[in-house]
Amino acid sequence: MTALLSVQNLTLHRGSRRILDDVSFDVPKGGTLALVGESGAGKSTIAVALMGLLTRAEASVEGKAILEDTGDLFTLRPRAWTRIRGRRLAMIFQDAGAALDPCYTVGGQIVSTLRRNLGLSRKAARARAVELLESVGIPDAAARLGAYPHELSGGMQQRVMIAIALSGNPALLFADEPTSALDVTIQAQIMRLILDEVRAHGSSCIFVLHDLALASQSCDEVVVLYAGQVMEAGDAKTLLSDPRHPYTALLKSCVLEIGTAELTPPEGSVPSYDAMPAGCRFATRCPNALPRCAGEKPPLVPRDGRNVACWNPVGVPKAEAA
Ligand SMILES: Nc1ncnc2c1ncn2[C@@H]1O[C@H](COP(=O)(O)OP(=O)(O)OP(=O)(O)O)[C@@H](O)[C@H]1O
Ligand code: SF4
Ligand SMILES: [Mg+2]
Repeated sequence: MTALLSVQNLTLHRGSRRILDDVSFDVPKGGTLALVGESGAGKSTIAVALMGLLTRAEASVEGKAILEDTGDLFTLRPRAWTRIRGRRLAMIFQDAGAALDPCYTVGGQIVSTLRRNLGLSRKAARARAVELLESVGIPDAAARLGAYPHELSGGMQQRVMIAIALSGNPALLFADEPTSALDVTIQAQIMRLILDEVRAHGSSCIFVLHDLALASQSCDEVVVLYAGQVMEAGDAKTLLSDPRHPYTALLKSCVLEIGTAELTPPEGSVPSYDAMPAGCRFATRCPNALPRCAGEKPPLVPRDGRNVACWNPVGVPKAEAA
């Protein structure tokens, strides 16, 4: 499949900390990709870097992010970013309640976004805002335009965020943990809504998710991240059904199943960014670790229909692995 966005060797430092280490992946055109990994893996950092929301004072970025018809995002000047943000790229944030401005009605926030991004008149923007709220399942949409965010439930706030993000018809949507602040029934509705809307608009979407099972059910591709490094990347169903990387296998073992007698959480935690192994960052917790792992970084290479960075993958005879 053609790539809408190709992220190549993205490395990001905050001071002396290498928060992202040589991250590469492609986002298929019209497809969905999930960034998966535990807290601190760098998932949101990738999203905000690709949205151009990091300043040079906050972080230094190396590598490329080639967006179709635009070129390398990391070479864009601030004025060019304001032209594509909201139009070609848009973001649904984790906590809609915090992302919406509490001082303005939701209608006011959608109308001002439409006027700025699409240059619509006030009247046309208002009519479009009603259509957008209806399309994301908000009942009595015209009346809801006058509501302040605190007057809406968490699920309704997230629907408003989705309407705002989709209002510029973006080619690529980022959805950073879009359902984790919601209860489970609303979570399923919102995931369904985002997937339906993305498909209807022909957009691509990068989801940021903790949950490998949700990622494999919802997305075409999965990129598994650990401490800022890509561990395994490829077709979502293949990765969950038959992981090659020990970390993907560990994440899979954390997927809860109804009727499972015992819960065995993985031991240890992600090392501090000040004391990362020079080689594979998973080496301190890996059940398959070899003497070379902590010092020599495994390259991300094709294996069994996906890309894997590991000297000793799961299900591969030792002699063949290294
Ligand atoms: N503004 C910041 N200043 C300094 N360090 C930061 C900042 N934001 C994130 N970090 C660090 O960068 C690393 C990656 O953080 P990031 O928020 O991208 O992880 P994440 O995978 O999104 O985690 P979570 O699942 O908890 O949202 C973490 O170690 C975090 O502490
Ligand atoms: S490279 Fe070594 S430490 Fe890293 S995941 Fe593979 S076996 Fe484990
Ligand atoms: Mg995050």
